[in-house]
Amino acid sequence: MTDDLEGAGYEVDFMPITDLVWGKGFITPGGEGNVDRIVEGVDLNGKRVLELGSGAGGGTLVLASKYGANVVGLELEAPLVELSRQNARDAGLSDKIEFRCVEPGPLPVESASFDVFYTSGVICHIEDRLSLFRDVLRVLKPGGMLLGYDWFPTRLSDDINSWMKAAGLHLFPDSPENYAKWMREAGFEDVNHFDASDWYQNRAAEELEELTGPLFDKAAEVTSEEVRDSIINEWRAMNLVLQSGELRSGYFRGRKPT
Ligand SMILES: C[S@@+](CC[C@H](N)C(=O)[O-])C[C@H]1O[C@@H](n2cnc3c(N)ncnc32)[C@H](O)[C@@H]1O
Repeated sequence: MTDDLEGAGYEVDFMPITDLVWGKGFITPGGEGNVDRIVEGVDLNGKRVLELGSGAGGGTLVLASKYGANVVGLELEAPLVELSRQNARDAGLSDKIEFRCVEPGPLPVESASFDVFYTSGVICHIEDRLSLFRDVLRVLKPGGMLLGYDWFPTRLSDDINSWMKAAGLHLFPDSPENYAKWMREAGFEDVNHFDASDWYQNRAAEELEELTGPLFDKAAEVTSEEVRDSIINEWRAMNLVLQSGELRSGYFRGRKPT
């Protein structure tokens, strides 16, 4: 199951700036390096991968080009699906990648049809994690892997609400430990999680310095002063909750029993 939100609030106007800060087509921190950490040690060559929340396709393209996966990306926002298709065409990867625009709800794919389920920065928008993980178990082949990274707001404090308002997003609070619990309850084995809050806390501070320093003029050139200033406002609000520890981030994975 995905959730019942009409849309997660992502638009395309800020993408030229996140391209500069996170890497082409990424709406999550760390760009290609973070994809590497999410899939570390898992052979994806020739594997069928389902990505939930493929956004503008940054991670999807890396999964296909660097790791040799055949990827189906599911995404709520039609303009992002268009952009991700364009990015795949530009990269000459359209034969290895298919992007589908989906409605919230059960994953619209056949049972036991994927080797790997991959997701980055998406499950935080889906309130019923247990139902989602049960559905992921359904679509994976026996022995298939769930690999993910996410934001974890610890609670809906005033500062977290200010950051979400600045970003125009809504995230449901949770923790990597709880994701592991839901995954085990759904039936996954070899479940583990890893807190990466320190890494992004430091990196986000550098990103804010870049946005207000060397990237300041460039960011307005590739979008507008208004969009650039709104992104800087968002990064300031995000840094506040990262520094206070109210916004965590981390990895999680599990395997469907054979
Ligand atoms: C933080 S962005 C991450 C995009 C991409 N995974 C990346 O790493 O750049 C979250 C994306 O998930 C999408 N999304 C949120 N809820 C979704 C759902 N229930 N089904 C499909 N996509 C969803 C949003 O529209 C958005 O594009």
